[in-house]
Amino acid sequence: MTDNQKFSVSAEEREKQKEYMLLAGETVLSLFGPSPKAFVHTYGCQANVSDSERLKGMLSEMGFGFTDVLEEADLILYNTCAIREHAQDRVFGNVGALKNLRLAKKNLRIMLCGCMVQQASVAEKIRKSYSFVDVIFGTNAGHRLPEFVYRTLAKGEKICEIPQGDGFICEDLPVVRDSSFKAWLPIMYGCNNFCSYCIVPYVKGRERSRDPRLIIEEAENLVKSGYKEITLLGQNVNSYGKSPSFGYDFSRLLREINDIEGDFIIRFMTSHPKDCTRELLDTMASCSKVAKHLHLPFQSGCNRVLKEMNRGYTREKYLELLNYAYSVMPELSVTSDVIVGFPGETYDEFCETLDLIRQSRFTSMFSFIYSPRPGTKAAAMPDPVPEEEKGVWFRELLAVQEEIATKRTSETVGKTYRVLCEGRSKQGLVSGRTGGNVIIEFPGGDDCIGTFRDVTVTESLTWILRGQLCN
Ligand code: SAH
Ligand code: SF4
Ligand code: F3S
Repeated sequence: MTDNQKFSVSAEEREKQKEYMLLAGETVLSLFGPSPKAFVHTYGCQANVSDSERLKGMLSEMGFGFTDVLEEADLILYNTCAIREHAQDRVFGNVGALKNLRLAKKNLRIMLCGCMVQQASVAEKIRKSYSFVDVIFGTNAGHRLPEFVYRTLAKGEKICEIPQGDGFICEDLPVVRDSSFKAWLPIMYGCNNFCSYCIVPYVKGRERSRDPRLIIEEAENLVKSGYKEITLLGQNVNSYGKSPSFGYDFSRLLREINDIEGDFIIRFMTSHPKDCTRELLDTMASCSKVAKHLHLPFQSGCNRVLKEMNRGYTREKYLELLNYAYSVMPELSVTSDVIVGFPGETYDEFCETLDLIRQSRFTSMFSFIYSPRPGTKAAAMPDPVPEEEKGVWFRELLAVQEEIATKRTSETVGKTYRVLCEGRSKQGLVSGRTGGNVIIEFPGGDDCIGTFRDVTVTESLTWILRGQLCN
């Protein structure tokens, strides 16, 4: 049995939502006229961005267009993130700022969904302290958006639906993509790893892999519609199809998408070192359309801390994996995530993290100060190091990484890369990314945008590059 069969939303439920879709469409038209507007804002990771593209798909089918101006909106939907306290505080602040708007507009509806509100205590806080919010729904209820829109608009109901459980796969949702040439393609949902600091397994449910045939079909359709970059998404793509009856793994999926005819590149994230195999690295090396970029979070360079984090690998295994990756792909660009100040981490242990960074030649890194997440195992661990001291360590780490990145990017001056041009920088230059996922800016016309161009690096500025078009 595939995960699609095990986790799929029932046919009855899908039928019910299709009926709600029609009812919601009629209600929206009668209340707001022919051009109702929705403001959809997404916090958090690409998984959320991709979920929001489906939420927008449903809103579009109900008749909504989209606006970036809050005051123009008839419906405001925030898809929230819970990964760190700071992420949640931002949402609370931004939701608070909507109160006057909501009170001034009788038919305006404010909806919150996603990881943050999946936590029962947060949903409760919103119900109590932000009572002007009309609808709250959790990560297992996204496919029920038509029902929620209908109930709140036609019946004036206040709704809070946070179903618990393992989570769903819902395949037939419409989608409005943010870009016409870069696509997010979810291959799996949820996470089973329970890293001790992380809230994701609690809010996104159990790991479940989509049917490979549906993923390949979606990729083929994207390529046919002119998409130039497809990013395969999962919290741990290396464990795609891991359940014994699945009979399919991530390397095979990569190879089959690589075989689709057309001029496009394949990216994927995130890779987890405990499930990243030499076979996968060999597959990356041999697939010409797979970008030579690996995002491989290490989190800590100290074995004791890694064990407490429940990461399932050692620093030696991580470094061995990286060395192998560089040996089969000398041009590989590796990026990573690291946490500073995990409960009980000592300065000496933090220095092991610095040492791993010095050995790893990352092109860039996302660094985070540990943030306790209620309900996770790490939140109950003694955490004696004061925040200010963690801040000092954090700045030390940034300085080390900056020095390494400066060296890495300066080595690329004079080289030519095939770049997917994405848009314009603040200075009016064309901005794109190399296969290694490094931003490069250069003078050029609008006709570049959405196409691949060869660009020679003329200057390096720590994290980004400047260049000149070759053709
Ligand atoms: N699934 C991905 C990561 C998703 S979360 C993986 O396993 O690599 C993105 C990053 O946020 C993590 O890699 C981690 O570095 C950071 N993060 C997660 N929980 C955190 C917490 N409680 N405090 C600080 N950073 C955290
Ligand atoms: Fe969180 Fe770990 Fe899952 Fe990544 S693999 S989402 S860090 S629990
Ligand atoms: Fe945030 Fe949820 Fe992603 S907690 S990082 S939006 S999986």
